[in-house]
Amino acid sequence: MSFEISRRALLRGGLGLGGVTLLGGVPLVAHSATAATPLPTDAEVYGVPTTNPLVLNRADPFITVPTDGMYYFTGSVPEYDRLVVRGSSTIAGLSDAPESVIWRRPTTGTMGGHIWAPELHRIDRRWYIYFAAGDSNNVFAIKMYAMESTLADPRDPAGWGAPREVTTPWGSFKLDATTFAHRGKRYYVWAQAEPEISVNTSLYIAEMASPWAIKGEPRRISTPTLAWERQGFAVNEGAAVIIRNGRVWMTYSASATDHRYAMGLLWADEDADLLDEMSWNKSPNPVFVTNEQTKQYGPGHNSFTVAEDGTDVLVYHARDYTGYIGSDPLYDPNRHARVQKLYWSRDGMPLFGVPVGKGGPIVRLSPTDDKHTFVRHFAFVLSVAEDTDDLPLGDTQFRFVPGFAGAGTESIQSVNYPDRYVRVTATGQVRIDPFEAGAAYAGQASFRRIPAKKGYQLQLAGDGSKYLLHDKGALTVGALAGNRSIFELS
Ligand code: AHR
Repeated sequence: MSFEISRRALLRGGLGLGGVTLLGGVPLVAHSATAATPLPTDAEVYGVPTTNPLVLNRADPFITVPTDGMYYFTGSVPEYDRLVVRGSSTIAGLSDAPESVIWRRPTTGTMGGHIWAPELHRIDRRWYIYFAAGDSNNVFAIKMYAMESTLADPRDPAGWGAPREVTTPWGSFKLDATTFAHRGKRYYVWAQAEPEISVNTSLYIAEMASPWAIKGEPRRISTPTLAWERQGFAVNEGAAVIIRNGRVWMTYSASATDHRYAMGLLWADEDADLLDEMSWNKSPNPVFVTNEQTKQYGPGHNSFTVAEDGTDVLVYHARDYTGYIGSDPLYDPNRHARVQKLYWSRDGMPLFGVPVGKGGPIVRLSPTDDKHTFVRHFAFVLSVAEDTDDLPLGDTQFRFVPGFAGAGTESIQSVNYPDRYVRVTATGQVRIDPFEAGAAYAGQASFRRIPAKKGYQLQLAGDGSKYLLHDKGALTVGALAGNRSIFELS
């Protein structure tokens, strides 16, 4: 059976696998016999695995888009001494896939220093890995290199030729190359210290003459001028590109590699001259930052891939604690690779939300009497809001978890405030409040999710005559009321 069908059917109105309705592999309310077939995993139903971290101790994570049925993963290892690649037919499978060392730095000389931030790219049916390397006598004399493999499997060390430097003007510190193709041209984007500019690194773009070389003069498209970009180090690095909705979107990372590390966003019209600095717009604020509630710190150096079901996926690293171990965050090994769904607003802007932290599948709820709205929380109260650009994604994201009121019930956990759950007070106010032990909270914060049309009715566990209701922008409780009491999950 195609899980895509089950996923689409699920989100429309509950596909029972032998009577058990699922969302993301989480068994909902069993309505009849138990499942006759094995339950699909979250990744299969949801596309984006919810294993978090996905890969431990791999910073600057890069996952290829599916290539001949395979995902390939690479990233910086804590020792900064080698290039590794792992592969799997699913993103979730990368978590424990065997890892191949495709190249080790020499013990001395050129490239004998730090090995940073590799990326795997498939160009003209050959693999190229782009990475940065220092020298043994100066580990920070960082330059950019590329290697090529003619084999179909980039995990096979035998396929890789010798590294060659990808040269750019100025002999200065240069790193974090990425490449993308657009409108018949291939571009190279990297971070470099420009002699006349008093910042650590800025972002540059150039067209490529070949997978080994740029052509023409580089153009500086972003430099760290904003306060959030200059915390500890004035850095723009780790660019990643995704082309959607008529624009070329480029994320990048800024500041020191501790909890202050954060992601910014540039964009250009897809018809623009990408080599013209004036084509690029820059968000004044970071789009992805440390989140104390979900305990994700210093999220960044991202890449993008596409899940098995076509969902866009944000790939990034973050630590599970603020600060860092040791005297320099660069040598704290606990930047782990993570993935989460990348959303898009109605007018085509990427929505990054918050680094979601550990937990199962994430949903948004839309009352079926007004599909362009989402249930959201604000100041502890739930309401129903228009899907506009200023509706914070995190406030509309929830997880269904086993109910505090026991078998057959579920509780609805906030994603960006994971200690809080949807509850209905004795006076009928629908809130999101921190967990409280005891039967009262359990009864008020547990629901039965009942498939109805293309969505679900949410019946109060403590009072079967009451359901969550959409009431002209408010979320209330009451008797069933058609589409106002049916919520589509997405
Ligand atoms: O993780 C090693 C380096 O640290 C990466 O190349 C860069 O993005 C970060 O500053």
